Amino acid sequence: MSISTDPDGQAVTLDFAGQTSPYPFFNYKRRTEPVWHGSLTDQSQLPPELMPDDEWVLFGYDDVFRAFRDDQVFSSHAYDQTIGLVIGHTILAMGGKEHHDHRNLVAKAFRATALERWEPSVIGPICDQLIDEIKNDGSADLVKAVTFEFPTRIIATLLGLPRDDLDLFRRLSFDLISIQVDIEAGLRASAELHDYFLEQVEQRRRKTTDDIIGDLVSAEIDGEKLSDEAIISFLRLLLPAGLETTYRSSGNLLYLLLTHPEQLAMVYQDRTLIPAAIEEGLRCETPLTTVIRTTTQDVEIGGKTIPSGAQVDLCMGSANHDETRWTDPDTFDIFRPRQAHIAFAGGIHMCLGMHLARLETRVMLNSLFDRVTNLALVPDNDARIIGLTFRSPTKLPVTFTPAS
Ligand code: HEM
Repeated sequence: MSISTDPDGQAVTLDFAGQTSPYPFFNYKRRTEPVWHGSLTDQSQLPPELMPDDEWVLFGYDDVFRAFRDDQVFSSHAYDQTIGLVIGHTILAMGGKEHHDHRNLVAKAFRATALERWEPSVIGPICDQLIDEIKNDGSADLVKAVTFEFPTRIIATLLGLPRDDLDLFRRLSFDLISIQVDIEAGLRASAELHDYFLEQVEQRRRKTTDDIIGDLVSAEIDGEKLSDEAIISFLRLLLPAGLETTYRSSGNLLYLLLTHPEQLAMVYQDRTLIPAAIEEGLRCETPLTTVIRTTTQDVEIGGKTIPSGAQVDLCMGSANHDETRWTDPDTFDIFRPRQAHIAFAGGIHMCLGMHLARLETRVMLNSLFDRVTNLALVPDNDARIIGLTFRSPTKLPVTFTPAS
């Protein structure tokens, strides 16, 4: 299914299945109708109970940014009825004081300074081991061997889960995040994860540990501690929030570097370019292109009035290509002047895990570049970035030689 629009006799199509890039459509809409009374979802596939009565899309950077900042008017409470069905009531759907208090309790564990200690002890060794497993093979699919693997192994270790539970944790995580395709499997995984995490929390209430679950169990503000249910829901939130986005964003970045070999060579040579490459990858190929809000009152934006109770899709992918902010925005250029992107959202819900995502991607790239050279996509492969809401390559077949 797709919808098309026809400027000057040239069709601009949005393919709901995400097999072709949505960027020509986003770019066209941003220029012609940046506040659009329309939909980015294939309504014919939605069950009636999830069909919004009224739907709007914001495409421009300033409008998307404003909506993130104005969380009183653009509320995220509707997450309780979607992803909340499998993860529970979490900070993602909270607002105001409730959000402030809960986020403060969990934020400490995700500060850049708190994460530093994990680089040499956890993140580095996990990435090194993954690349060591493939470095002498001469070829690999980097999605299967690396990008799909490292965020799960890292988060399981940071949470302090036993090594032997990795396969169970991986299976439950992927069932949980597959709710769009299999709601029953998602609900089963949710219940299993509840019991699994409860056991982990109880262990730490008896004897505290130096890991994220230990931090959450002992977190306290004004004498208030998180309840078991709040901790378990938050831990379940980390799976869709932290795993899927990171494996997709790192796959996107590798794809962009591999398809721009001159920039890849420069990053190989000068590792101080890695942070700029990570930010440009997130801007150019935003892994999560759109999130949803609900208006709590009538609101005027871009000369249009969006009524109270409407669903508003904040298109971060489009905002990150806004030509009023970036020159030649569709081009991947790690040397462009630095300008903040919005791939991690903004306002009170701005990604809690962004420092971890940046850290683990930087460490993974360094491990890869230290261990293999002559990294190149296999000729005539059909690897490409696909998807509409979530975007990433499904495979990255590469050849390389082990570094001496
Ligand atoms: C490149 C990787 C990532 C991207 C692009 C990303 C993107 C986002 C976005 C767009 C939001 C806002 C959602 C909304 O407001 O509707 C968000 C929130 C969140 N993210 Fe991330 N994320 C990434 C990695 C992570 C990681 C690694 C973790 C933790 C392990 C994480 C944890 C969270 C949490 C807990 C929230 C909710 C914050 C709140 O509601 O206050 N994310 N992320």
